[in-house]
Amino acid sequence: MRDETLAIHAGYQTDPTTKAVVPPICQNVAFEFDDAAHGAALFNLEVPGNIYTRIMNPTCDVLEQRVAALEGGIAALAVSSGMAAITYALQTLASQGHNIVTTPQLYGGTYTLFAHMLPSQGVEVRFAETDRAEDLEKLVDENTRAIYCETIGNPAGNIVDIRAMAAMASRNGLPLVVDNTVATPALCKPIELGANIVVHALTKFMGGHGNSLGGIIVDGGNFDWTAQGDKFPGMTAQSKGGICDVLLDRANRDCTKTIIECTSTFTETILRTHPATNFWQRVGLMTQLNGSHNVALAD
Ligand SMILES: Cc1ncc(COP(=O)(O)O)c(C=O)c1O
Repeated sequence: MRDETLAIHAGYQTDPTTKAVVPPICQNVAFEFDDAAHGAALFNLEVPGNIYTRIMNPTCDVLEQRVAALEGGIAALAVSSGMAAITYALQTLASQGHNIVTTPQLYGGTYTLFAHMLPSQGVEVRFAETDRAEDLEKLVDENTRAIYCETIGNPAGNIVDIRAMAAMASRNGLPLVVDNTVATPALCKPIELGANIVVHALTKFMGGHGNSLGGIIVDGGNFDWTAQGDKFPGMTAQSKGGICDVLLDRANRDCTKTIIECTSTFTETILRTHPATNFWQRVGLMTQLNGSHNVALAD
């Protein structure tokens, strides 16, 4: 499909209920589970579906699929800003004691993140002397976890040879992360040139109107994380779904009890504080609450 078509249609099938052709905004947080087992399977990532808007949301999903399609990636994660996208992507790859190697000229916010904030969290960022892949390669060592560059630098307009950078990263068993904000996939698709992760400030040309802030991380699906041993636990470690199992299991067992307890406590609080509730009614209520959890309101 051509980019023009993807930009309008990718990731969205017309809503069968409303027939809306433009993706509706799902302004909600929680989603219904078919039953407790379905809920458990969702939380354990065994079945696809919506769990909770911090993790996924149908409207964001359209955006994620659309940008992934435009960039030629396999999936994407939309976040609140371009800086959030860069931070999330790099914190997933590098932690304390690791380093990231990058070009000398970068967007100002990224420079601040790299020169001050990541180092304060124990991640060193090494700035090469030039944009050339061989100059970045000189700074790579066993603790390097990513090579980072911008397709077209903001504001310098410097153009990086993505193909050469990708070959160097691959030679060193490292992912190449590219900020494609200025070029956009309309002008350049870094994944086609060998990049592994693409980040965007959707705030700029991708948004196009200067009225919304956003960021996105696109996974090229072209880096073999497991081939690097335990170098990238953020990409390879099993999800800690166990805790969700435990909570859901407990919720299953205790669900009725919990609901009754909450309802009882709520009703009790109202009745306790309501001026129309006399002393004996309160005593009766407490007796019932302490006994069966069934609350019968006294007239
Ligand atoms: C190249 C580039 N990357 C990242 C960002 C940060 O994006 P945001 O302002 O959405 O956090 C910008 C913002 O101007 C940018 O130009």
